[in-house]
Amino acid sequence: MKSTKETLSKLKKDKNAIIIAHNYQLPEVQEIADFVGDSLELSKIAKKSGASIIVFAGVRFMAETAKILSPDKKILLPVKDAGCPMADQISSDDVRKLREEYPDAAFVAYVNTNAKVKSVVDICCTSSNAIKIVNSLKQKRVVFLPDKNLANWVSLHTKKEIIPYDGFCYVHNRFNKYEVLRMKEKYPDAEILIHPESPPEVLKEADFVLSTSGILKRAAESDKKRFIIGTESGLIYRLNKENPEKDFYSLGEPKLCFNMKKTSLKDIYNSLFNERYEIFISESIINSARNSLERMVNI
Ligand code: 13P
Ligand code: SF4
Repeated sequence: MKSTKETLSKLKKDKNAIIIAHNYQLPEVQEIADFVGDSLELSKIAKKSGASIIVFAGVRFMAETAKILSPDKKILLPVKDAGCPMADQISSDDVRKLREEYPDAAFVAYVNTNAKVKSVVDICCTSSNAIKIVNSLKQKRVVFLPDKNLANWVSLHTKKEIIPYDGFCYVHNRFNKYEVLRMKEKYPDAEILIHPESPPEVLKEADFVLSTSGILKRAAESDKKRFIIGTESGLIYRLNKENPEKDFYSLGEPKLCFNMKKTSLKDIYNSLFNERYEIFISESIINSARNSLERMVNI
């Protein structure tokens, strides 16, 4: 009997497809993926790839970003309702209203936003380049959306006035200072790596504040043997796999992103076999949203 990996390999070949998976996906999904990475890395891989079908094991805004950067490819999201609750906290109408309130400000959207929101802002950013993007702007005031915690992190590293939107990631926003202090006491020699979607009191305790791929890179380069990881706990799988000689501990109780865990191997097989659920975005939104993403890439 053929293994799932073999069955998927044949299907991928027949359909000229690849499977890409975010760093938070289930281990079995990461294992069959052609590439595993952070949201922007994966969209860039989707763009560069010669495949005509991309199965994106992640959440909707990530698959949409891939579609915006590769409009000619068929981008499939295996689970229709795998969304990002933070991305859903702001709409393009909310941005339009804010523009009336702050006519002189630049509008910066984190990639964790839907395509329509990307189409009405000036520029996008990721968790790894947010400070650089904000500092590159000519405006003195910046409306930063939707994540208030990332906005606060940026405000500590710029002279610009940051106007944060009141959004947050329900996974990272649950970290608290006491979890860090307890773990510091337990593992005083550990390096603390935290994602910038976490609250300010938690980021203050970090040795490094990094995106998911930034955490992977730092863990590989560091001389330290132990690490406290402040992000969605799915990242620990890849950290352990790539650094078997080092120890990784989730900050506090493990924190899971429910929507990131919805995608199973069966969903991936069904997605590719039935070519569902395809991402459709209108041409005008693709064009405006691509401008915001390309402005970011050019900086
Ligand atoms: P990264 O881009 O750092 O992988 O983060 C995506 C995300 O959704 C974090 O919660
Ligand atoms: Fe969205 Fe948070 Fe899940 Fe990332 S971890 S996809 S920001 S809900």
